[in-house]
Amino acid sequence: FYLCFCRNRADFYVFDDKIGLGRRFDGIGGLSGGGVTSLSLKMNKTRKANSYFGASLHILKVEIGGDAQTTDGTEASHMHYEGDENYFRGYEWWLMKEAKKRNPDITFIGLPWAFPGWIGGGESTPYHYPSITASYVVSWIIGAKQFHDLDISYVGIWNEKDFDAKYIKILRETLDRVGLTDVGIIAADGNWDISTAMMLDPSLYGAVEIIGVHYPGTKTVQEALWTQKTLWSSEDYSTFNDDVGGGCWARILNQNYINGRMTSTISWNLVASYYQDLSFGRDGLMTAEQPWSGNYVVESPIWITAHTTQFAQPGWRYLQTVGNFTHGGSYVALTDGKGNLTVIIETMSHDHSVCIRPVLPAYNISAQNATFRLKGSFAEITELQMWYSKFDYANSKSTLFKKLPPIKVTEGFFTLSIGVDEVYTLTSVTTGQKGTYPDPPSSTPFPKSYYDDFDVRKNPLPLMKLHTLLTRRVFLKYFQNLTDPGPHVFTLRQIITQQPIAWATDSDHTISIIGDYSWANLTVSCDVLIETANPGGAFVAARVSRGGESVRKAMGVFFFVMANGTYKVTNDIGETVLAEGLSGTKAGVWYTLSLTVKGQFAFGMLNGRVLWKDAVVLNPKNGWAAIGTHSFEFGQFDNFKAVVE
Ligand code: GAL
Repeated sequence: FYLCFCRNRADFYVFDDKIGLGRRFDGIGGLSGGGVTSLSLKMNKTRKANSYFGASLHILKVEIGGDAQTTDGTEASHMHYEGDENYFRGYEWWLMKEAKKRNPDITFIGLPWAFPGWIGGGESTPYHYPSITASYVVSWIIGAKQFHDLDISYVGIWNEKDFDAKYIKILRETLDRVGLTDVGIIAADGNWDISTAMMLDPSLYGAVEIIGVHYPGTKTVQEALWTQKTLWSSEDYSTFNDDVGGGCWARILNQNYINGRMTSTISWNLVASYYQDLSFGRDGLMTAEQPWSGNYVVESPIWITAHTTQFAQPGWRYLQTVGNFTHGGSYVALTDGKGNLTVIIETMSHDHSVCIRPVLPAYNISAQNATFRLKGSFAEITELQMWYSKFDYANSKSTLFKKLPPIKVTEGFFTLSIGVDEVYTLTSVTTGQKGTYPDPPSSTPFPKSYYDDFDVRKNPLPLMKLHTLLTRRVFLKYFQNLTDPGPHVFTLRQIITQQPIAWATDSDHTISIIGDYSWANLTVSCDVLIETANPGGAFVAARVSRGGESVRKAMGVFFFVMANGTYKVTNDIGETVLAEGLSGTKAGVWYTLSLTVKGQFAFGMLNGRVLWKDAVVLNPKNGWAAIGTHSFEFGQFDNFKAVVE
């Protein structure tokens, strides 16, 4: 109290390692997946970055693709069918390798959202044949090492779905049997319920290394603490990445430990690289959603991440002296055990740090003076580097991750005058760096005229093709139709033949969207080959209103031709019929479908002849273009074209 009075009524806080340390810090991460969140990223040119440059993430968590719609699209399974195995699908392998180049010590985590249908043997759960599911997941981990030299450190169960204790134990046994004893299981990527189950079941307790929860609102439950296990917020954030998103991230990065003893926080998602009009647009640490222009935006959450990640590494320990300031805001302190000290302070006000979920209870915060005392190993420190952010919501002129002159520590004391909506790092670490980069290319809309012949000879993967790389159902793959005598040697083929074990409510049809959500009047055309006689079909579509997890509810104009010689025009994905009749179409023959939508009317052509016209389309008024198959069946596409008026 005496000190407090002397030092301008500053409140008083101590950093001391000699009274014992807190938990091990496990790092800050980003999540690619759940799903297709990094798709466009692969097509943006690789930019240089190293561990001390920007977000400097410690953890990359990726989706283990399951061929089903997960949030913003579909990620490919490494085993589409029983007996199938391929560790080169999708972009997560590429992303992990790029991440490892920048941070060789990065920790990798894999987690399935969905599974290919065969895993369940006809059931819609992956737990019916737990040994099959376990060997499927373990194969992915082995494949990562064998084909990409990637070491996966942790694996999860089934994103935000019920866990199954028997499966978790079998997964542990399977990992151990192949020598992957170092790969830890995170469970159950949902709420805290598994804590109680672990206390009642010693072998479940033994199998789970880390309790991972999602969107915990910075709070832990008593049962979780009783387990004495490591606790992580294994998915968090998912907030629009403006400066309120930055504020959310600053608050939870500190308070997940202070209030909840969680030692890692992972952002869904890493980089918002999907169309903004899909679910949870721009809920990433930064934005790169225009592969056609290469435009990207480094948003405030990147620099907020740097406040922690550049100055504390996994393996450091939190001090016991962490907490909340008297007048609002919080501080954490970490040490490497070798005399280094990093303190991170955040004073985010309520309205400037609301996250997507859960509800943030009201609280007050005001400017304050704080005096800090360094004790124990830190007593000899005479200055600390200072990195500073101040959000300025009124003028949109935030200061982000700015290096200020070091703060002097006099006989173990220093005082800071702390405002509201600020973030500070005070640290003995001198390697901090605010990375600079050239201006990104300007933002442009999706091209109004787009054509793809899927010829992989002319446009080698991976950088050229928008169609299969953009919010596609990734099970669409390039196909070399070498038996085709005609012009369709290189095609795009739909190859998933069984409804996956879904995460969201998947559609009964397969669909791949492309273009711009604002597209209203346009012609979409494509050559299609139905491969299955019954109940085969293929479609082109315009004004498609949804994709990803909510694609089942998509409205639009869908022009189907069927192998049974009929056509159907629907106003949603399959149900509400606008027009129907005979088309003479059958399996095994290529047809050119063309759909034109203009104002309130639509017409369709088959092989250049009008098949139907004057269909009335009141809604939707705009949306993406799309192609797809009637059911989970083989089907091919060629010469896709979209021309907007
Ligand atoms: C989570 C889910 C993510 C994403 C996110 C959006 O529940 O795991 O895949 O959908 O919500 O907020």
